[in-house]
Amino acid sequence: MPPSPQKPLGSYPRTRLRRNRRTHWSRRLVAENRLSTSDLMWPVFAVAGEGRREPVASMPGVDRLSIDLLVEAVGEAVALGIPAVAVFPSIEAALKTPEASEALNPDNLVCRVVRAIKAAHPEIGVICDVALDPFNSEGHDGLVQDGRVLNDETVALLCRQAVIQAQAGCDIVAPSDMMDGRVGAIRDALDAAGFVEVQIMSYAAKYASAFYGPFRDAVGSGAMLKGNKKCYQMDPANGAEAMREVALDIAEGADMLIVKPGLPYLDVLRAVSQTFGVPTFAYQVSGEYAMLKAAVANGWLDGEAALLEMLVCCKRAGAAGILSYAAIEVARLLRRG
Ligand code: PBG
Repeated sequence: MPPSPQKPLGSYPRTRLRRNRRTHWSRRLVAENRLSTSDLMWPVFAVAGEGRREPVASMPGVDRLSIDLLVEAVGEAVALGIPAVAVFPSIEAALKTPEASEALNPDNLVCRVVRAIKAAHPEIGVICDVALDPFNSEGHDGLVQDGRVLNDETVALLCRQAVIQAQAGCDIVAPSDMMDGRVGAIRDALDAAGFVEVQIMSYAAKYASAFYGPFRDAVGSGAMLKGNKKCYQMDPANGAEAMREVALDIAEGADMLIVKPGLPYLDVLRAVSQTFGVPTFAYQVSGEYAMLKAAVANGWLDGEAALLEMLVCCKRAGAAGILSYAAIEVARLLRRG
């Protein structure tokens, strides 16, 4: 607890806070937080085919990769010591339907990716997003009927989706859909199917954010999306409601939590991690990454310094770790020291 402003721990001139900051070694000694490679999760985009590398225009440095190239890229993540990757599929438009049935195909792109990564690199954690949007011709995370996003019918599908992902070998399922009650239902479905050890990383406080645009370009859901996601994702104006969302997800069996987006929502991250003491991760989302890269491309920011600062700020706010599209870049920087 910091002292009250009325009772300072010392006073000038005897106390000079700049003393501890004078040298590099001293600053290292007194640092309260440190970003390490162990904090990183790397979201990757997969596409069908072979030898395919498609740059995502709004995310400079990020590519959609076919499985062969993705497995190779994950090899670098393993070599750098990144603990986990999160897989997002770019599904061809012809496979997207109003029922999102491809989400339930045990041989869909996500499952093929998981099997390939696990076969080549069993030591890295693999996270699968549980939501319908990559597979849904409506671009929504849930089933749409008469313009409404159905809750309970969607949850039933998400349970089946999570089970096929677990069957493919994923370690963590990450429901990003924001349907009510899905964490508990998914836990029950996984347990019933024998996957008691598969972890659930819940996107517990996920906001209806304008910062997801580049991600939707990457997975091709943006052009499909009819309307917006405000009837299931949270209002950026709300903080107390995030605590209720989180409390419910923990009660339903979430092992880990995500607050999303990252930097604009550090107050929420702080409150969640302090209040609940459950591992809470920040998601530095596509729009945050795109803003940074755009500024760097213009010569307006020092990219390396800004990137490391953004991530250590997440740690200071209480993040157990961060999902970042820049994870490889960051791990290289950290290795360089
Ligand atoms: C979809 C999903 C989204 C992201 C992760 N899973 C986008 C959305 O909700 O529209 C966003 C990731 C990002 O912007 O980096 N279930």
